[in-house]
Amino acid sequence: MPELPEQVQIVEVGPRDGLQNEPENVTTAHKLAFIGHLAKAGLTQIEATSFVHPKAVPQLADAMDVISGLPDASDVIFSALVPNQKGLERAIESGVRRIAVFTAASETFTQKNINMTIEESFAVFQPVVESALREGISVRGYVSTAFVCPYEGEIPKEKVRDVSERLLTMGIDEVAISDTIGAAAPNDVLSTVGHVMERIPTEKIALHFHDTYGTALANVYAGLQLGIKTFDASAGGLGGCPYAPGASGNLATEDLIYFLDRMNIRSNVDLNTVVSAADGMAKVLDRSLSSRQWKRLRPASGCQ
Ligand code: HMG
Ligand code: MG
Repeated sequence: MPELPEQVQIVEVGPRDGLQNEPENVTTAHKLAFIGHLAKAGLTQIEATSFVHPKAVPQLADAMDVISGLPDASDVIFSALVPNQKGLERAIESGVRRIAVFTAASETFTQKNINMTIEESFAVFQPVVESALREGISVRGYVSTAFVCPYEGEIPKEKVRDVSERLLTMGIDEVAISDTIGAAAPNDVLSTVGHVMERIPTEKIALHFHDTYGTALANVYAGLQLGIKTFDASAGGLGGCPYAPGASGNLATEDLIYFLDRMNIRSNVDLNTVVSAADGMAKVLDRSLSSRQWKRLRPASGCQ
């Protein structure tokens, strides 16, 4: 048996990655109830919203109201996506204490997603990261399309390592290597993330898996074998990127918790409370969810 970490950190991205992809706008009150429920489950890192252009992602246009309405939970770090200086100004005004910048390992995806080349994204992020750190705001960085790009296909691992290193040099504290369209398999994770780890300390790497092809949990297992201890997930398996055709939901938080519990790996997050949070959102969205644990454990009165 390979030696695996005894404890991992789950970063809950449902309120951002999940709700950015819903066709219907969810009210701020429902978002805040969802976030409060997730915090009660024991999740200590929650990506709450996004300060991107409101026309690019209208679902999260209420970012300022979401951040100002967050529950008073001193043990939870709430964060928000920031794509540029304007986004940072809005983030600072909101009072959020952690942000995430995001670029990609594919040139075409970066262009479609944030209207910049990868090089331009570094030029935009450098002053954003510096100003954020000066304000006492910590910064994570995403590398999207780290395995397969919906426009360019296979992504070379060298490119992922290069972009990850450039982000870390700017002063971010964690790089989230992301399978945006959920197409990777464990071999890809071992190869690409293993390559990144030759230059970047393991504790600075998080893995962000979408589950389009049903490989996300297998990919987590590959990450655990590499010694990675931080995994993103989304309650209910909500999620997707409006600029990545074919991207479906993230790995469901409750499916990750079941897997970790069964593997005797601590996450300190309560499975049933996450299912109940996801079920609340299923009712708001008036649809069923992809997560297996929601299907298994949802209250009898829950959405069919
Ligand atoms: P742009 O049009 O190139 O922006 O958009 P610009 O800098 O040319 O500015 C144009 C106008 O927009 C200006 O207003 C700016 O002030 C305004 P004007 O002077 O014309 O009146 N503006 C803004 N307003 C509010 N907030 C802002 C902002 N920025 C500019 N932040 C931009 C560039 C990056 C803003 C746009 O393309 C954008 O918002 N993209 C976001 C796309 C997005 O959110 N994608 C999904 C998230 S990423 C993801 O899901 C992947 C991830 O989960 C990991 C994975 O799975 O791979 C993280
Ligand atoms: Mg994502």
